[in-house]
Amino acid sequence: MDYGDYLQLDTLLGAQTQATDEHDELLFIVIHQATELWLKLSIHEIRAAQAQIREDDLRGAFKTLSRVARIQAHMIQAWEILATMTPRDYADFRASLGASSGFQSFQYRQLEFLLGAKDRRMLEAHEKPERRADLETIFEAPSLYDDALRLLARRGFAIPADHLDRDWTQPYEPSEAVEAAWLAIYRDTAAYWDLYELGEKLVDLEYRLQQWRFTHLKTVERIIGFKRGTGGSEGVSYLAKALDRKLFPELLTLRTAM
Ligand code: HEM
Repeated sequence: MDYGDYLQLDTLLGAQTQATDEHDELLFIVIHQATELWLKLSIHEIRAAQAQIREDDLRGAFKTLSRVARIQAHMIQAWEILATMTPRDYADFRASLGASSGFQSFQYRQLEFLLGAKDRRMLEAHEKPERRADLETIFEAPSLYDDALRLLARRGFAIPADHLDRDWTQPYEPSEAVEAAWLAIYRDTAAYWDLYELGEKLVDLEYRLQQWRFTHLKTVERIIGFKRGTGGSEGVSYLAKALDRKLFPELLTLRTAM
């Protein structure tokens, strides 16, 4: 086996088939494919962090979540490369994309579901059975945050029973008791340093996801202005609504109460 065989480079480097002869289409394909690879690794790592939290291995989970943060920083920076594509460059091949859109990225949706942003309507764009099955498995399971709250309960915090076992397909409902638990942790970091660190790792994760979403929106705005998306949405205003999708609400509201 050599380098190319091990990494299956013939398959990987043979997968950039352009629909047109336009120069910038290769950039467009590569940035999407590279993002999908980073999403794959992020999903792998977040699943590992979830397992570590379930096993009370917080040191392990911190190492894993630090890696996710570095991947996210890289994904945010990557928008700079795409931003070198001018509106004219993109217009030259946009029509050939048909109805394909990042909206149909099943890995992006897996990531959102893993982080607790559950929305049944988001399953509808995914009809291929094998992709749908993977998505549904994550949709029906507790999220990273749900597992963090179960850990808080194991440590003696009064987490309501309906936050420890519930229909996980439903969107997360913020709770005053959960906020009170995080507030106690943040007020006495000396006593609860590892739980505080977990809280901050989660805040980092959400912060970077929001930065990725926002930079996507601004890159889209400078390339297509306010055109509708190829996936049929209103475009920039649809992407702006995603910025309101909060993941770990009590980790922010506790700061108001502090
Ligand atoms: C010229 C570059 C790009 C443009 C103009 C663009 C535009 C859009 C638009 C308008 C949407 C809303 C859905 C729709 O109607 O299609 C969208 C969604 C999305 N795009 Fe992009 N995009 C670009 C690049 C990328 C790249 C490089 C990625 C990386 C994988 C990406 C990932 C996504 C994802 C995951 C969504 C779904 C977001 C959500 O539902 O909250 N996009 N994009």
